[in-house]
Amino acid sequence: MLRMKGLILSGGYGTRLRPITYSQQKQLIPVANKPILFYAIEDVIEAGAKEIGIIVGPNKEQVIETVKSKNWDAEIDFIYQGEPKGLAHTILVAEEFLDDEFVMYLGDNILREGIVEHAKRFKENKYDASIMLTEVENPQDFGVAELNEDGTIKGLIEKPKVPPSNLALVGVYFFKPIILEACKSIKPSWRNELEITDAIQWLIDNGYEVGWTKVEGWWKDTGKPEDILEANRLILDDLTPEIRGEVKGEIRGRVSIDKGTKVNENSMIKGPALIGRDCLIKDGYVGPYTSIGNDCEIINSEVEDSVVMDGAKLINAGNIVDSMIGRGAVIEKNKSLPKGGKFVIGDNSWVRI
Ligand code: TTP
Repeated sequence: MLRMKGLILSGGYGTRLRPITYSQQKQLIPVANKPILFYAIEDVIEAGAKEIGIIVGPNKEQVIETVKSKNWDAEIDFIYQGEPKGLAHTILVAEEFLDDEFVMYLGDNILREGIVEHAKRFKENKYDASIMLTEVENPQDFGVAELNEDGTIKGLIEKPKVPPSNLALVGVYFFKPIILEACKSIKPSWRNELEITDAIQWLIDNGYEVGWTKVEGWWKDTGKPEDILEANRLILDDLTPEIRGEVKGEIRGRVSIDKGTKVNENSMIKGPALIGRDCLIKDGYVGPYTSIGNDCEIINSEVEDSVVMDGAKLINAGNIVDSMIGRGAVIEKNKSLPKGGKFVIGDNSWVRI
């Protein structure tokens, strides 16, 4: 076991995931029926952290309640950030907690391979900081590393127009406490945030040793709706089938159905698909790469490649694809007059019909 603390970020507004994030903190959105944040906590514990600080901001009560609903093999404290003023700002807010080496993990990132090997390399090489990089096809959309000829890091550039490499920064960083001095020395960026890339650049410019490791498996930063669906697909690719519900309909491929869920004889579930507790699937079709939460109803409707959250209902809803359906949302065919679509839609929702 490696000794290090964990700092997991679960603040921020998550504006790109509105309207879902008006009522639910981004890191609590379920991917394969588990809050995204839980993947981060599991990885950090697996890497050896016994003390974890979770940065909370808007919707802090929700995050605290959700994390506390499970027993974790680590002591977890919550650190209130107030206004989200940047990733480096979270380090300043957590100053008292960060008296040892630590891993900082963005709570909306998911990594297939976890971080154990990367943590080992940070420790073995005694780096002052170590970042994780992965090859991407669109480096202009990420923070990107520029390497020296010997493979060491020369610098980091946010969303470069002309990328110096295709190596993007993954949202997991290892630091010695010297990073606090770096965060105190930098100025807010044009978007008025204290940027972690600037703090790491400060370390490089001041002669500290910043190493890096390469992420070989998939990595997903779940900032936008299509990222949530992609992360859901990636996790469901490794789904272990298990049927605990009452299933009369046809099951094809890898499917997991939790207890209390009923699937009638006129329904079909085609995996990989995951259905939670106490749902009703009646005359319905649940297609590949769909996760359905608890207490949902799929009645005379088809859904595939989607994330359907707790308590949502699809009733005579036709064919739903590539969708995120929030908690308690209802999509139902209109049977009353006047004919036509009827909506009660939250701010910034979008509907394609
Ligand atoms: P971002 O995805 O950059 O920011 P955001 O979550 O506010 O989303 P959006 O751009 O859609 O508004 O943040 C990366 C991670 O860091 C994410 O898990 C939120 C977290 N975070 C904080 O905890 N505090 C902060 O001050 C910021 C900027 C982000």
